[in-house]
Amino acid sequence: MGATIVKMDKNVSKIFDIKIRPYSDDDMLVLEKTLGDPSQMIHLNGPENHERLERRHEEYVRMSIDPIAGCMYTITVHSGSVPVGHTGYWETEWNGEKGWETGWFVIPEFQGKGIATAAMRILIDQLATLNIDSVFAYPSVTNEASNAISKKLGFTVIEEMDYEYPRESGKLLRCNVWKLDLIKYRENKAVQ
Ligand SMILES: CC(C)(COP(=O)(O)OP(=O)(O)OC[C@H]1O[C@@H](n2cnc3c(N)ncnc32)[C@H](O)[C@@H]1OP(=O)(O)O)[C@@H](O)C(=O)NCCC(=O)NCCS
Repeated sequence: MGATIVKMDKNVSKIFDIKIRPYSDDDMLVLEKTLGDPSQMIHLNGPENHERLERRHEEYVRMSIDPIAGCMYTITVHSGSVPVGHTGYWETEWNGEKGWETGWFVIPEFQGKGIATAAMRILIDQLATLNIDSVFAYPSVTNEASNAISKKLGFTVIEEMDYEYPRESGKLLRCNVWKLDLIKYRENKAVQ
C-alpha cells in the first residue's frame, strides 16, 4: 500500500514537474485565488478581504527574503512557469512547546491531482535539513482533504483543539493537531 502511494506521488511530480520556490512579489494572484476565494475558505472561517490579503502578501514576501522566523513558498508546475498554490513554515507554540507550523493551498483548477502532497514532501525534505525537530499542522476537523494529506505525509494526530484563525481575528476553528517528528523522519530517510 505504502509503495503504491509513493509511486503515485512520483508520477504526479513527474507529470507536473512540481517545485516550490520562495514566495515573491509577483505572487499576489495565488493568494487571491486561494485565501481570497470563499469556496476555498470553507474550513478556514471564510475568505480574507483585499486589505488582509495585501498585508499577508507583504508578510510572505518579507519572510521569503529573511527566513529567520520561517519562510513562505509558491508551489509551481511545468518547470516553475505556472504558480498553483503556496505553503511554508512559521513559528508556532503548542502547549508551551515552541515549534514550527505548516499549511498548504492549491488553486481549485489544480486540486485533486496530488500536487499539495507532492509539494509538501519537498518542503518536509527541506525542513529535515534544518535544525528543526518537529512541525505541526492544524487543519479543521471538517477538512477531509487536509487531514488525509497530513496522514499520508506521516504526521500523527495528538489532540483536537480550538485554534484562532486567522491570527488575531478572534475567530476559532475546531482543529486536529497533527505533529510530524522530524528526528524520526531523518532517521527513516537515512536507512532508506
Ligand atoms: C487541501 C488542498 C490544499 C488539497 O490540495 P490537493 O492538491 O488537491 O491535494 P492532493 O491531491 O495532494 O491530496 C488530496 C488528498 O485528500 C483526499 N481527499 C480529498 N477530498 C477528500 C474528502 N472529502 N474525504 C477524504 N479524502 C479526501 C484525496 O483523496 C487525496 O488523497 P489521495 O491522493 O490519497 O487520494 C486543497 O484542497 C485546498 O487548497 N483547499 C482549500 C484550502 C485549505 O483547506 N487548505 C488547508 C489548510 S490546513
